[in-house]
Amino acid sequence: MNSNLETPMETAILEVTNLSKAFGGVKAVNNLSFSVLKNSIHAIIGPNGAGKSTLFNLITGVITPDAGKIQLSNSDITSQRPDKIAQHGVSRTFQNIRLFPDMTVFETVLVGTYLLTGGRLLPAILRTRDFRKKERVAQEQIGEILQFVGLWDMRNEYAAKLSYGNQRRVEIARALATNPRLLLLDEPTAGMNQKETKELMQLFSLVNKQGITILIIAHDMHLVNSLSNQITVINFGEKLAEGPPEVIQSHPAVLEAYMGRSEVNA
Ligand SMILES: Nc1ncnc2c1ncn2[C@@H]1O[C@H](COP(=O)(O)OP(=O)(O)OP(=O)(O)O)[C@@H](O)[C@H]1O
Ligand SMILES: [Mg+2]
Repeated sequence: MNSNLETPMETAILEVTNLSKAFGGVKAVNNLSFSVLKNSIHAIIGPNGAGKSTLFNLITGVITPDAGKIQLSNSDITSQRPDKIAQHGVSRTFQNIRLFPDMTVFETVLVGTYLLTGGRLLPAILRTRDFRKKERVAQEQIGEILQFVGLWDMRNEYAAKLSYGNQRRVEIARALATNPRLLLLDEPTAGMNQKETKELMQLFSLVNKQGITILIIAHDMHLVNSLSNQITVINFGEKLAEGPPEVIQSHPAVLEAYMGRSEVNA
């Protein structure tokens, strides 16, 4: 695929420098440095427990690092609160789908846009003119996003009752509703059948063409090789290798790290 290669990508949108995070004695992320180029699809791969989700939690401010720096374009976002980081244009989906059981697709995605209004409660309660205007704009935007991800016809259904593939789409729509510059996807196709995987890959490519940089964690090497421009391999929280798919596919250290691990078709 690699359809986004026409777009110029010289500047880094994200720069992680010497990032570390330990849980007790476990160095989940260990002195890790890498950059994500603007408009790219950048994959993070590595064995189970390598520190991939921890890295996403650090970038999105869910947890704070012990050391190191996270720079988003010209802003230092290290140790900032998750809502502040979201306002800088970083959005994510989780490894395990997180949807409220009693919300429709539309309502779920609407929740994403409250981050944009700064989550301030008083204007919402008073329903100020400014708030109503923002709400109207948000609803129009959600309509467009739902059309874009192919969920418009399901907008009034309970999100948690949809198929697994469509639940993932709801999460992606919710992430897009915050108008991100950088979208982090944590194993978005895990547990999907081939058809769902293929359709989601097409969606990611479309999202990327809208100018949204994607950082994706995945185990499916076919997906990673055909979708991404750059791959960073991590193992025990450290960078093991980095490069375009054609280099990583045959990298000796990568093959060794994956040897005998059935979940990776390397
Ligand atoms: N909140 C936490 N408290 C304690 N240990 C944690 C916590 N989060 C992660 N860890 C540990 O940190 C290490 C890295 O975990 P992480 O979830 O980041 O790995 P991963 O690469 O995402 O793995 P997987 O492919 O299985 O999702 C593991 O040893 C894990 O047990
Ligand atoms: Mg993980």
